[in-house]
Amino acid sequence: MSMRMNSRVIGLLGRALQLEMESAQQHMTRASLAGLWRDQRLADTLTRLSDEEMGHADLLTRQMLLLGYAPPGLSLDPVRPGRDPEEILALSRAHEWQTVRFYEESAHWFRRFQPDETGALFAYLLEQEMGHARQLGG
Ligand SMILES: [Fe+2]
Repeated sequence: MSMRMNSRVIGLLGRALQLEMESAQQHMTRASLAGLWRDQRLADTLTRLSDEEMGHADLLTRQMLLLGYAPPGLSLDPVRPGRDPEEILALSRAHEWQTVRFYEESAHWFRRFQPDETGALFAYLLEQEMGHARQLGG
């Protein structure tokens, strides 16, 4: 792998990790809020999504380590908790779609320039995030 390709891959992995950790924190925060509102169903849905995002972060971290890199320190966007269940779903959905777009572009880049196991991971995560967007109402 050339140095330029290498830094591109590391950059994509770092951005993916940042998006996943942001999603995890957002879902977790909104799950807490839904719990305070006694909306257990929404709280459970968001807790499960948060766990899945952490699973994705774990896969990305593992891939970085396999390639010989330590994961970067991250700065995450502040969480907007949301004022009611509808706003919670809308905010969470928006972040999922942002993540879907990122994975779409990244998976495309891998298919075109470097169809390897990191590319396969991005294609898998794209499917996962599309599923999340659907679970949050499309
Ligand atoms: Fe995720």
